[in-house]
Order: sequence, then structure tokens, then C-alpha cells
Amino acid sequence: MHMQAADRDARKPVTVPHLRGMKSAGEKIVALTCYDASFAAHLEAAGVDIALVGDSLGMVVQGRSSTLPVTLDEMVYHCTAVARGASSALLIADLPFMSYRNPDVALGSSARLMAEGGTAMVKLEGGDDWACEVIAALASHDVPVCAHLGLTPQSVHKLGGYRMQGRNEDAAARLREQARAVAQAGAELLVLESVPHALAARITKESAIPTIGIGAGRDCDGQVLVLYDMLGITPGRRPKFSRDFLSGRESIAAAIAAYVAEVRDGKFPADENILG
Ligand code: KIV
Repeated sequence: MHMQAADRDARKPVTVPHLRGMKSAGEKIVALTCYDASFAAHLEAAGVDIALVGDSLGMVVQGRSSTLPVTLDEMVYHCTAVARGASSALLIADLPFMSYRNPDVALGSSARLMAEGGTAMVKLEGGDDWACEVIAALASHDVPVCAHLGLTPQSVHKLGGYRMQGRNEDAAARLREQARAVAQAGAELLVLESVPHALAARITKESAIPTIGIGAGRDCDGQVLVLYDMLGITPGRRPKFSRDFLSGRESIAAAIAAYVAEVRDGKFPADENILG
């Protein structure tokens, strides 16, 4: 059943325990990236659960070729804008490149995103020992953490491009182990980007924390897309796992509402959006 206008008016803020409850109940979690107050109001009106201030803003807002140059000041700036437009969606912000390189730096960066930016959760990329140490330090200070595994864009130079991860047996086993480790370290949520759908389904089944997929099939507990991709306004080629929801619709509001409905119903991603 989809959220009606009256329900939306009464919508309580989406919280971390609420997301866990959605996983237990088998209700799909709907997330979108967001970078400003006007779009945040659209996400809010459509009943999106999570507004992610992603460092993808470096590429889609600033026109850069990677997310690496995005600064903590810029992330704080965009968070404050989104926080003004979104009242009930859970606000998550990316910790930018090198702003979480050790527990102390990560605590300072997260404090800024939460206290100045108004975010409720921080997201960081990676699942190796050092990342788990950072997650544990943040969690022990009651900073809710979203881990991000698979294609981790801040590692683009090491990965050699934006390509699917976890394709062979060893890489898949490593991703499963990292998913277990980040949850064990205290992560509350896990983004899986560009991993084969069967692997994402397996990790989702094994995971106590909700998984949010992007290019990871339809069996994750929720879905996220880059807002500008799903509105068809990102210059260049749209990734196969995304869809232009504005095409054939009369407004941005209608496009976002369609995305919300299709994710909730398990219709998005459709077969043509599933990789691997
Ligand atoms: O920065 C971002 O937008 C993200 C999503 C693609 C998950 O991390």
C-alpha cells in the first residue's frame, strides 16, 4: 500500500530502529541522493525514507570526474540545505575522501556532519580492518554508521574504473566477509554498489542490518539511486542499473512518486536494470 497525502502529513521521522523494523517486516526501504532543500522537499512529499547527501555531488553538481575532491565543508553545506527541506526522511551524509582515515579524524568529521549539517547517520566506504576500527569508534560514540561495499567510488584509482565488484568466487567471499565485519563493528546499514544480484541477495539474507542496493539487483532490503540519474538530467550515459523516471511523466514530483511506488512494490529494479 502506498503512502497517501494524509499519512505523509502524519509521518513520523524515519529512525535507525525503524529501518531495522522494515527489514524484519520485509518492507522495502526507499532512498535517493539529495543535495539541496528544494529537491529534499520533493523527496519528503513522495515519502522517501532516506535522503542521502552523497559525495556523488562532486560529479553531478560540481561536474568533477570523481568524488575525491569533495571537501568536508562542502558536505556540511549541502547537508544543512537538505536538512531544511527534509523533516521526516532519515538524513545520511557521506564522509568524504580521507575524512575518516583514522578513528580520531572520523569522529571530528562526523561531529561536523551531525552537529552543523544536521545529518543522523554518516556513510563511509570500505570493510577492511582499518574501516571496521573506524566504524567501531564511531558506533561507540553513538554515531550511526552506514557502510558502503562493492564498487566504492573513492577507490576508483585503485579499482581502475567504475566497474562491478565481487564477480569471482574469491572476491565474492571477501565481500561477504566484509559485510559480516562491518555489521559486527557496529554499522547500522549497508550500501551495496555494483555487485552481482545473486551475491547481493546472499549478503542481504545473511545480514542482520538492512542492505540498500544500487546496481545490486532487487533482493536488497532497499534501493538507492543518484537523483539526477533517475531524473535523466546527468550529462552523458545513464548507468544500466538506473532508469529515467521523468521520461513520459509530467513533473519531477510524478517521477519521484513513481520511483517510490516501484521500489516499494519490488518492481524496480526491473530485469533490464539488473547487472551480473
Ligand atoms: O555518493 C553517492 O551518491 C553514493 C550512492 C551512489 C550510494 O554513495
